[in-house]
Order: sequence, then C-alpha cells, then structure tokens
Amino acid sequence: MFQWKKTIYKTACLSFLLVITVMVLQRGMAPSQFIQGQQQKGLPPLEPLKTEKRNSIFSIPSSFWKSEKEKAPVKEEGSESVTAKQEKSWDVTTTNCSANQNLSNADWFKGLEPNFQQFLLYRHCRYFPMLINHPEKCSEDIYLLIVVKSIITQHDRREAIRKTWGQEKDVDGKKIRTLFLLGTASKEEERANYQKLLDYENHIYQDILQWDFLDSFFNLTLKEVHFLKWLNIYCDNVRFIFKGDDDVYVSPSNILEFLEDKKEGEDLFVGDVLYKARPIRRKENKYYIPSALYNKNSYPPYAGGGGFLMDGLLAKRLHKTSETLELYPIDDVFLGMCLEVLKVSPVGHKGFKTFGIVKNKNSKMNKEPCFFRSMLVVHKLLPPELLQMWELVHSNLTCSRKLNVL
Ligand SMILES: *[C@@H]1O[C@H](CO)[C@@H](O)[C@H](O)[C@H]1NC(C)=O
Ligand SMILES: *[C@@H]1O[C@H](CO)[C@@H](O)[C@H](O)[C@H]1NC(C)=O
Ligand SMILES: *[C@@H]1O[C@H](CO)[C@@H](O)[C@H](O)[C@H]1NC(C)=O
Ligand SMILES: *[C@@H]1O[C@H](CO)[C@@H](O)[C@H](O)[C@H]1NC(C)=O
Repeated sequence: MFQWKKTIYKTACLSFLLVITVMVLQRGMAPSQFIQGQQQKGLPPLEPLKTEKRNSIFSIPSSFWKSEKEKAPVKEEGSESVTAKQEKSWDVTTTNCSANQNLSNADWFKGLEPNFQQFLLYRHCRYFPMLINHPEKCSEDIYLLIVVKSIITQHDRREAIRKTWGQEKDVDGKKIRTLFLLGTASKEEERANYQKLLDYENHIYQDILQWDFLDSFFNLTLKEVHFLKWLNIYCDNVRFIFKGDDDVYVSPSNILEFLEDKKEGEDLFVGDVLYKARPIRRKENKYYIPSALYNKNSYPPYAGGGGFLMDGLLAKRLHKTSETLELYPIDDVFLGMCLEVLKVSPVGHKGFKTFGIVKNKNSKMNKEPCFFRSMLVVHKLLPPELLQMWELVHSNLTCSRKLNVL
C-alpha cells in the first residue's frame, strides 16, 4: 500500500519537473530567434520594418538601465540609416535663452499674474534642442501621420492609444504612423526617474519625439511650433496629419473614409471649429487671457486642439507662418491665428466632438457605443474607458442605424 502511494508521488513529481523543464526550454528561446530560425528555413521573410522592430525590442542592450554617465545618450536613435542622405536636421542644439529684461520695468507687465509674466519673459525663446528624435519616421510615403500631445507621466494613456486608435498599420497600402510629442517633466522630482522610463518606452516603440522644454500648459504652443518645424525638416511625404490630445477617442477608419475623396492641395483643415470665440476674462478660468496680452474681442476661427485633421502641405505653410507671429499661450488659438494669416478657413465637422458630446456630462450619450461608432473624434476618454469603448465599438454592435455624419 505504502509502496503504491510512493510510486504515484514519484510519477507526479517527475511529470511536474518535466513540464517545468519544457516551459523553461521554450522561454529560453527568444522570439527574435524564432524569427531568424524561420528565415533560415527559407520561409518568406517578414516585412523588414517589423523584424527590425521586434529584434530591437528583445535585444535590449545590457547597459540600458545603467546610470546616465556610463553610457552614451539615447538621442537620435535609429537615425543612422537616414541622416547620411538627409542634410537637414534639427539645428537647435543648445538652450541659451535668457529672460527678456525689456519687460520688467513696464507697468502693465508688473500687474500681470506670475504665470503670464513667466510666459512673456520667455516668449521669444522659440526652439529648444531635441532629446528624442525619429528622423526615420517619415522616410516612407505616409498617408496619415497621427501625432498626440502627451506628457511624460502619462504612459498609460500612450499605451492605451497604441492598442487602439494609434496602432501603426497599412490600410490598402496607405501607411498610418504614430508619434507622441513631449517636453520634459514639469516637476523636478519626476524628472530623473520618468525620463529613464520614457527612454525605455521609446526604445521599445520608437514613437516618441521629445524636446527640452518644460511641459506646462502655456508651453503647449511651443509643442505646436516644434512639431511644425520638425515636420518641415523630416517629413516630405506626409499626406494628412491628425493631431490630438491623449485623452480622446478617435476612429481611424472613419477618418480614412472621410479623407477618401479629398483632393491634393485642398488646404484641408477640419475639426471642431469655434467661430468668434471670445477671450476669457475671468481669472479663475483655465483659459483666462488678460487684455494686456490680447485686446481684441474675439479670436479668429480655430479648431479645438483635442483633435483635428490637416493637409500635410498646409502644415508646412503653417510652419513658415508660425515663425512670423508671436507665440500665443493657447495652442489651438495660435494655430487659428496662423490660418488667418494664410487666409485658410478651418472647416467645422460634426464628427469632431472635442468639446464633449452633449452639455450634460451625465447624459447617456457620452457612453453610447453606437454614437462613438459614427464619430471621428470624441473628447474625453481615459485609458480604461477608451479600451472598453474601443472593444465595444469593434464588437458585433447592433445599432438601429448608423448616424450619417461622414
Ligand atoms: C549665451 O548667449 C549669451 C548672449 O546672447 C552669450 O554671451 C553666451 O556666451 C552664450 N552662452 C552659451 C553657452 O552659448
Ligand atoms: C529688448 O530691447 C532691445 C532694444 O529695444 C531689442 O534690441 C531686443 O531685441 C529686445 N529683447 C527682446 C528679447 O525682445
Ligand atoms: C517653457 O519651457 C521653458 C524651457 O523649459 C521654460 O524656461 C519656461 O518657463 C516654460 N514656460 C512656461 C510658461 O511654463
Ligand atoms: C460577428 O458576427 C459574425 C456573423 O454575424 C460572426 O461570424 C462573428 O464571429 C462575430 N464576431 C464576434 C466578435 O462576435
């Protein structure tokens, strides 16, 4: 009896060991080795870009997590293949911009709130060096470049976007590529640790552009002009650009459908457009603007920065125009000012809901997947909601009718 039990016990132990061994052996073979193995056997090679990407994910240099001083900076990763041909590159390499002392004595300046003073003191500092660049991003013809304003601490939003509307893919030969636009951490204590994580995130996904300016609300316009300058240098072959926030829902398939009949050189600029919006003069408001900064009664038409679409060539003209205007602290209004100079009118479209769907925040409409299915952009969804909504919209959803917005 005892002997019998012992045998069972032994067998069980051996099987368990065997299972563990098999698992360990399987894990020991990195996915990149699988890929190489396949190629050696004469199977059709995977798309070069994909293979490269995978290899780089799994072949993290062992020095990656070593402290800053021991290794070369991670700047300009992946640039080797392109820079040789491309003569143009980001030409700002030092930050040497001091406060504009001319202002300090003016009475109107002294009466301003500290954040506006700060803005004005450094308003003339146009461009900053790049910390993370991807000159290779536009080396192919890109149909739709998705660029997302993000900040260093919100990696969860970037992660959710990569899984949903920011997926890089080719649809009927049209290439969709994604980039996140970042400055540096606005809080000192966040800087060191988050920077290291961001470098790692970029190492994996290769989709981060970062400039050496503080990511603050008033610096969003800097992000705008940095992106336009970057695009002008590195992207000659981008047909359309979607630019938006990292807390929105976007439907790339609806965007593609919308773009289908657009012609070359149409100066397309479309979004949730505000006409004759008035500058806000209540100090408690996030968008408050003192009249010392802007004294007209209304803004030129502009598209809400939550998400809008523009033509690639128009973006280049916007870059040139932006350099002739003084920076304005609200990024989407600033772009409206540039469009006004170019005499291009932004076009409003009801598929862009960047100021919320309905006024009542508790309305069921805000969570209705059938509604999302017909939209191009909807504000505002945080990662768990975004993932959930994405799944719902892409499931076998039965809606009474597809809202006809396109
Ligand atoms: C920064 O600019 C000032 C004056 O514009 C100049 O005197 C100084 O040498 C510059 N510093 C660096 C590090 O370039
Ligand atoms: C300050 O004033 C001087 C003289 O008017 C001018 O040359 C200079 O460009 C001004 N500085 C800034 C940063 O605007
Ligand atoms: C914008 O970023 C620059 C560079 O980091 C910084 O000096 C400046 O204070 C920032 N401006 C605002 C308004 O936060
Ligand atoms: C959706 O419906 C189709 C047919 O109506 C079915 O073949 C498919 O498996 C369904 N997909 C899901 C995710 O339920």
